[in-house]
Amino acid sequence: MSATVIVTGAAGGMGRPVAARFAAQDRPLLLCDVNAERLEDMAAELREGGARVSTLAGDIAAPEFPGQLLDSLGDAPLFALIHTAGLSPTMAEAQRILEVNYFATERLVAALLPRFEEGGCAVLVSSMSAYLIPDPAMIAAVGDLVAGKGRDGIDRFATDPGMGYTLSKRAVIGLVGREAAAFGARGLRIVSIAPGFIDTEMSRAEAKASEQMVRMMGMTPLGRQGTGDEIASVAEFLCSPGASYVSGCDIKVDGGILGRLALG
Ligand SMILES: NC(=O)c1ccc[n+]([C@@H]2O[C@H](COP(=O)([O-])OP(=O)(O)OC[C@H]3O[C@@H](n4cnc5c(N)ncnc54)[C@H](O)[C@@H]3O)[C@@H](O)[C@H]2O)c1
Repeated sequence: MSATVIVTGAAGGMGRPVAARFAAQDRPLLLCDVNAERLEDMAAELREGGARVSTLAGDIAAPEFPGQLLDSLGDAPLFALIHTAGLSPTMAEAQRILEVNYFATERLVAALLPRFEEGGCAVLVSSMSAYLIPDPAMIAAVGDLVAGKGRDGIDRFATDPGMGYTLSKRAVIGLVGREAAAFGARGLRIVSIAPGFIDTEMSRAEAKASEQMVRMMGMTPLGRQGTGDEIASVAEFLCSPGASYVSGCDIKVDGGILGRLALG
């Protein structure tokens, strides 16, 4: 029996194509999302195509979520975690964004680490915005958070949802760097993907709220937004033997925008 792939945010713009790609590999899937209805719809679609799919509807930031996820996984060996669930600035307050995007991610990774089979991989999702932090003191605060030196700095700087988002995603990149040793010791890898502007419900909502974002989208060297499947294909590659020496790092999948801004 091949080992399971867990996809969080599975009902979302990136999660769906990720699930479809691993279903096409004939991997058993455990799909999670807070939106139970959309989750069940897409699970039903995948099952119709012959996929082996189980689901867990719930909030990844709930304290009981990691335990529920482990219960759902049961004794099945784990091949990969593709963790796309997240909140963007128009969706919540700064503290909730930090909770969902960073603290829940940290708990999820810790809970699943012992469950991977050798050769397994965790793929987290950061953001291009993690590279747009102007103040070195903010970057230092993220470093302190990830190093377990407390969250005072982060809480001081996360004064609005935009900063909460940016700091949470920078912390995800730090988490991947921190956890690479523990993963490596067990023959596992952990990486993150930093998407640029990807055409999903999330980015459409953000673009409506920010003229600056629309201006930046127009500067993307590839001249268009990315698709959810262009993130899914990289996630699939990162879990493949072709990426066997890739760990502890953040992979930009941004159509060249960070390079153009000379911030990448
Ligand atoms: N779309 C972009 O341009 C873009 C750019 C940079 C980074 N990202 C990141 O990529 C990831 C995926 O984004 P997307 O564009 O697919 O967004 P999306 O909104 O289409 O999908 C996100 C999914 O996560 C689920 N979710 C949200 N909060 C949750 C929670 N607390 N518990 C469980 N599930 C939850 C949502 O229901 C949704 O189905 C996010 O982490 C996002 O921050 C997106």
